[in-house]
Amino acid sequence: MNKLLALACIVGFLISCSQETVTLSVTSPGKINTIDFHLSADGEPTYLVSHNEKVIIDASSMGFDFKDQKALKDNLKILSSEKKAVYKTWEMPWGEQKEVVNNYNELMIALEENSAPHRKINLYFRAYDDGIGFRYEFLPQQGVDSLVIMDENTEFQLTEDYTTWWIPGDWDIYEHLYNTTKLSEIDATTKRNNPNLAQTYIPENAVNTPVTMRGSDGIHLSFHEANLTDYAGMTLKVDTTSLKLTSELVGSDRLGHKVKRALPFKTPWRTIQIAEKATELIDSKLIVNLNEPNKIGDVSWFKPKKYVGIWWEMHIGKSTWDYAGSQDMNSFTTDAKPHGKHGATTENTKKYIDFAAENNITGVLVEGWNTGWEHWIGFEDREGVFDFVTPYPDYDLEELNQYAKDKGVEIIMHHETSAAPRTYEQQLDTAYQLMHKLGIHSVKTGYVGKIIPKGEYHHGQWMVNHYRKVLETGAKYQVAINAHEPIKATGIRRTYPNAIAREGLRGQEFNAWAADGGNPPEHLPIVAFTRMLAGPIDFTPGVFDIGLPSKEDNHISTTLAQQLALYVVVYSPVQMACDLPENYEGQPAFQFIRDVGVDWDQTVVLNGEVGDFVTIARKERETGNWFVGGITDENKREISLDFDFLDEGITYDAIIYKDAEDAHFKTNPTAIAIENMEINKETSLSIPMVEGGGFAISLIQKN
Ligand code: NOJ
Ligand code: CA
Repeated sequence: MNKLLALACIVGFLISCSQETVTLSVTSPGKINTIDFHLSADGEPTYLVSHNEKVIIDASSMGFDFKDQKALKDNLKILSSEKKAVYKTWEMPWGEQKEVVNNYNELMIALEENSAPHRKINLYFRAYDDGIGFRYEFLPQQGVDSLVIMDENTEFQLTEDYTTWWIPGDWDIYEHLYNTTKLSEIDATTKRNNPNLAQTYIPENAVNTPVTMRGSDGIHLSFHEANLTDYAGMTLKVDTTSLKLTSELVGSDRLGHKVKRALPFKTPWRTIQIAEKATELIDSKLIVNLNEPNKIGDVSWFKPKKYVGIWWEMHIGKSTWDYAGSQDMNSFTTDAKPHGKHGATTENTKKYIDFAAENNITGVLVEGWNTGWEHWIGFEDREGVFDFVTPYPDYDLEELNQYAKDKGVEIIMHHETSAAPRTYEQQLDTAYQLMHKLGIHSVKTGYVGKIIPKGEYHHGQWMVNHYRKVLETGAKYQVAINAHEPIKATGIRRTYPNAIAREGLRGQEFNAWAADGGNPPEHLPIVAFTRMLAGPIDFTPGVFDIGLPSKEDNHISTTLAQQLALYVVVYSPVQMACDLPENYEGQPAFQFIRDVGVDWDQTVVLNGEVGDFVTIARKERETGNWFVGGITDENKREISLDFDFLDEGITYDAIIYKDAEDAHFKTNPTAIAIENMEINKETSLSIPMVEGGGFAISLIQKN
């Protein structure tokens, strides 16, 4: 049957095309991306994706292996198919932009096995102008209540040896440096022993998503998933010879499978963002669009915010989380005497609250306030250790909460679970009730270490469900979650807008203590086009004491101007000013952090290439002021900026924070030049960035 005939028989009718091969297609609204679905004569489904007529994904098969059933991969027939065209807009309660357009064409294909047990599966393909997504729906089966999936075999057959930016398909942690290699050169398993990580498990030559690629003609692809709900995270196994990726779900060694689900159910969406230029990847809203609308209602109790906190001082070794243990973060002991270096004291917290209140910062994170830190990392048995309601004796929770409130500041709660989610779940209600009572509306959670029980991994179905339970509990008690060592972002923030940010990458903390010295200058210019496509990042920018005098072997590989730029480039509705208050005193550059917005009406990606540089402009929701940030890798470069994105008829008082001529991330990182000027829509400027440098601009409307 040819394509036309196949199309003709789907328009609103039930068809039966079981004897012959069938192709059904769906094209994006702007006719840019097309998905062809093909069923071979023996009932084997494949799909193919093209972009402006060019094949991006060649015929690729789909299928599943189960525990108590035979594999599902062929012997299928089409029962029916249906097409729909959707154009909708929706509003982000907080975000990179206010209004999002969700415009796609969908093709649903209902399949059934030709012979017993006649299992049924529906496929949903959505073609967007900025990429594609597809998912599987398993329908009820006679006499079977649930399916045990041993693996999903979704293939992505690439058609060229792309330049690829990837991290290993670790089942526990995304905190790896990105590698830049040809697809055919990916070798994820040599990264097995990462000295910086308390947990890591890389069983295959696979990569984690988002994984981004660039083709010889400049096309960019990024593979990921959307709406990861009650399912295992997907890594992508790489066949370096045939240039094929295959889904490899994260498993549970404890339960001996990958996924168990009651029927019927839908899998997460498998997604490919497709762009002509790197910058369009950041513009794409494909991932959030493939999630369900907000289902927790009004979240105006959460206000996007800048925050400071008792945090960096522990990472650079000035103080400790624990009250009475040894002072080395890698070898805590249960020594019972207070050692006097505890960071989260009432007095120290007041210092941070005062500093926040004076500087237009509305949050203060306090880590190490609760008991349990004497028995944190390095211990096998971490069950029952952390207590999420009991402060150390030198921390007055109630007094500080009031002290902060009186100054217009909110404490950000901290829950380090030490990867013992069962202990955390036992205390969830009590811990969140406490926050509710205190009027605390956000918590940073953490999952450092190997998951207890043994045999579970951070990215498996069991943990995916744990992270969701925390979000649901948060919604119930009006608490927003910023998870560290999280499951990856898959656009769930649309459905649960209390999922405000997460880590899920090598954050700033690595610069303080990583055995390899820290993140190289190309790290963030890669992150902007990989990890950032998934969702908001709690990177914790803002180090001013860049030389890290107390840490001989570590350094920050950026200039000061780049640290400022990160507030705009790296999107999050919570942005930390992570350095110690004393390091900001008397620093003119700190004015940018005071001024910069955290919630945006609009975002414009001005330029960028993966791993090299990127410049982003964002318009603040309440004020209409604009902020621009640009960063470069280890190469210096000059950026031409046209301000034609600014609003018509408005003149802005601009402050430009740029690398001084003699700045350099290694030898002279803090040299910064600050200039004031008036800017409007007609202005254009050329801005130099030094090696590891950047720039930040605030554009405040003149009245
Ligand atoms: C790891 C987190 O990424 C870091 O931000 C936090 O300070 C520690 N865990 C302690 O919870
Ligand atoms: Ca971390």
